[in-house]
Amino acid sequence: MTSISTKEILLRDFRWDDLSQYQTLRSDPKFQRFYSEEDSAPEKAEELLGIFISQSREAPRTKYQLAVVAGSGDLMGSCGLRIESPGHASIGCELGRRWHRTGTARFATDALLTFGFVELGVQRIFAETISENKAAIKLCQSIGMSIESERVNDRCFKGRTWSTTTLAIRRDEWQANHPQ
Ligand SMILES: CC(C)(COP(=O)(O)OP(=O)(O)OC[C@H]1O[C@@H](n2cnc3c(N)ncnc32)[C@H](O)[C@@H]1OP(=O)(O)O)[C@@H](O)C(=O)NCCC(=O)NCCS
Repeated sequence: MTSISTKEILLRDFRWDDLSQYQTLRSDPKFQRFYSEEDSAPEKAEELLGIFISQSREAPRTKYQLAVVAGSGDLMGSCGLRIESPGHASIGCELGRRWHRTGTARFATDALLTFGFVELGVQRIFAETISENKAAIKLCQSIGMSIESERVNDRCFKGRTWSTTTLAIRRDEWQANHPQ
């Protein structure tokens, strides 16, 4: 079981009893703004939860999609680190609307960067997001990531094309700001 506790939040493996809160936070139209129709479907939350729980049982484990939990016990969202190839991990974060603009996303992604570089020893962590998702891009930049590239019009959903931006941070760049 993985559990990362910070002053502000707890990151822990998902459990089936998170389902109703996870469904509720994913069902908000603004939350779904940059998600495809398929990713926004009501049954998607249950499918994802099943995937996250199976990934948590894999050995060796490569995918850590964790529940972000408030001190009150409320589920705030999900934040994940996935080893995609040796030394390279992707990161992603999604929070319920009431937790946007609270610093929670920053606490969760900061904690997962530390987990990736220190505990898993990865060399590079990257994020891919729809280029119009300014909140996600700002979040990645706030934790030290830089834009690496953009794939123009590489996705198609909601009746139009979308571009994808990749941001990343290398271990040496992260260590320069985390000398301990
Ligand atoms: C991505 C996410 C976790 C970021 O959470 P957050 O950091 O709390 O986001 P905020 O709403 O506080 O926005 C972060 C920053 O982006 C800015 N921003 C938000 N929307 C913006 C827009 N349309 N244009 C310009 N800036 C925007 C905010 O002003 C804020 O800037 P600041 O830090 O200088 O104040 C959250 O937006 C989310 O869960 N979204 C839904 C799921 C999602 O799209 N996840 C990303 C998948 S790749």
